[in-house]
Amino acid sequence: MSERIIYITTPIYYVNDVPHLGHAYTTILADALARFKRFTGHRVFFLTGTDEHGDKIAQAAAKAGDEPQAYADRISGAFRDTWQALKITYTRFIRTTEPSHQRVVQALLQRIYDRGEIYLGEYGGRYCFGCERFYAERELEDGKCPDHRVEPTFIKERNYFFRMSRYQDRLIKHLEEHPDFIRPERYRNEVLAFLREPLEDLCISRPVSRLRWGIPLPFDRDYVTYVWFDALINYLSGLGYPDSDEYRTFWPQANHLIAKDIVKPHGIYWPTMLWAAEIPLYRHLHVHGYWKVEWGKMSKSLGNVVRPLDLTQKYGRDALRYFLLREMVFGLDASFSEDALVSRLNSDLANDLGNLLSRVLTMIEKYVSGRIPQRMNPESLQDRELIQQAEVTPTTVTGAVDELAFNRALEALWELVNAVNKYIDSTKPWELSKKDPHALERVLYHAWEALRIVGLLVSPFLPETGQAITDQLGIHGNVEAMRIGQAAWGSGPTSGMIRKGPPLFPRVEGGFAAIRAQEEADPANSQVSLAEFQRLDLRVAEIVRAEPVAGSKKLLKLTVRLGEEERTLVAGLQGQYAPEALIGKKVAVVANLQAARIQGIQSQGMLLAAEDAEGRIILLTPDKDIPPGSKIR
Ligand code: ME8
Repeated sequence: MSERIIYITTPIYYVNDVPHLGHAYTTILADALARFKRFTGHRVFFLTGTDEHGDKIAQAAAKAGDEPQAYADRISGAFRDTWQALKITYTRFIRTTEPSHQRVVQALLQRIYDRGEIYLGEYGGRYCFGCERFYAERELEDGKCPDHRVEPTFIKERNYFFRMSRYQDRLIKHLEEHPDFIRPERYRNEVLAFLREPLEDLCISRPVSRLRWGIPLPFDRDYVTYVWFDALINYLSGLGYPDSDEYRTFWPQANHLIAKDIVKPHGIYWPTMLWAAEIPLYRHLHVHGYWKVEWGKMSKSLGNVVRPLDLTQKYGRDALRYFLLREMVFGLDASFSEDALVSRLNSDLANDLGNLLSRVLTMIEKYVSGRIPQRMNPESLQDRELIQQAEVTPTTVTGAVDELAFNRALEALWELVNAVNKYIDSTKPWELSKKDPHALERVLYHAWEALRIVGLLVSPFLPETGQAITDQLGIHGNVEAMRIGQAAWGSGPTSGMIRKGPPLFPRVEGGFAAIRAQEEADPANSQVSLAEFQRLDLRVAEIVRAEPVAGSKKLLKLTVRLGEEERTLVAGLQGQYAPEALIGKKVAVVANLQAARIQGIQSQGMLLAAEDAEGRIILLTPDKDIPPGSKIR
């Protein structure tokens, strides 16, 4: 990808069903790529839309009791509404029923026909109505269509054919000379393997007697265009082909994003169609794997279709984006479950990133009255290590995005998040506040500056989070207008006030609730996975105050220190320990337990203790001295 110009496309989706998670994934991926490219100074044209002709749509409309056009209007509207709700920044939304698209399809058909690359022939074969195509014997499984599990119907008819077979050698040569034409490599190999068999001509028409819902062939009104020959051309008509500036500017940098289900039309039909019409080929085809849900493939009949808007309403747009982009390795399949989403939300977003921001802002409020810390040079090894991490991150993230490896891009970004967490833990600003104001200001500046870089770099992936981070840090402006150059160390504003806001990501307890419900249903299945265990935030805490809870024989109200933070806990220790004997003791606590009101007191965590056979409670204390707030692993 070069020249600071990029054309990004998603498939145009069939309007036989409203958007599901798979559609949302490709569209979010394209949106993150588009945003990142704008962030790195590219001019971007981002096209998405809907595929509205063909048997599949005519049948779905008939089933819904609608005319095809009215039906397509409705479902296409649902796609647009979903993309709007997900804040997808497409440049243009194309529909194949638009007259401007139909004109381009007819012009290209005519040109290819005039060049002698389309002929009328007779064909008899096995036709699957679900797939809208003929099947060769060898492609069937037990005589059935592998996708729809039905026996194709034998039909014989006169039809128009595109001389695709002529381009077989040229396509093999192109794939060999341009190893990155189809990425990742496994899909290039899939296409090459397909091309080892003789390539047949492609039937590109349907008789009007069988199907009316399509674009009429310009040279024979008794036929409409095969839906793929119509749909693929959206990538040109969407740019205003042939006369627009957009076409001239963006077509040479075309990057198509699709899933593995439609590699053949994009990897074989499309390049050969372009050659036949004497149009240069697209630049890259990027192929991702499939999202699997419980019971395998998502399908309406299995009742396991995941709707993206249900998820964003429950967890927020950025949590969904983060999960999808972080969890799928580009090119491979991935599993979707709500528990896995909640787990990522709680650990990476609420804990690692959200807590970090609120921790740093709390200290800036407390120690320097909420003003943006003074810009200062590094002095310690920790400062220099943090800067080094912040300086490599933009390059690593950019490299990963260029390979569409969004999971690696986010991993690299979280390495920086974790480096800031580690920096705070090791520099201990709460101790510096008592003895070294110069060092305190320096540490706060370094943490603030590193978070500023995190906020900028995260914004193409998680736009609302990027905006919230920069706003709270006291930086003015829309993140969408900011550029990667501003993520250089030391380029933040030098004056102003921070504006601490609500937590970025409130924790979600649904994951645990779901697990508990499952355990109750099946007590034998009460094992805890490593991921579940890792969700517990166990810490060393120092008890600073202890007093009996009025009206209770068992409870003590404790104030404990966890790093720079103080909390109140209620524990059943009365009669076991004298309150004054507890002061200064270091104990183990669960720091991320949902707060609970006990005897009118808000308890923020739980103390860990052992109980012997006589019911004596023994506190767990560290073996050697260790600062409060230290993590227990
Ligand atoms: O094929 N996991 O439309 P379509 C990941 N109209 N991505 C998925 C997915 C899943 N489980 N399910 C669907 C068509 N997708 C044609 C395209 S283009 C000129 C014409 C995504 O509605 C993925 O992008 O069946 C896949 O390629 C596309 O939806 C198929 O959408």
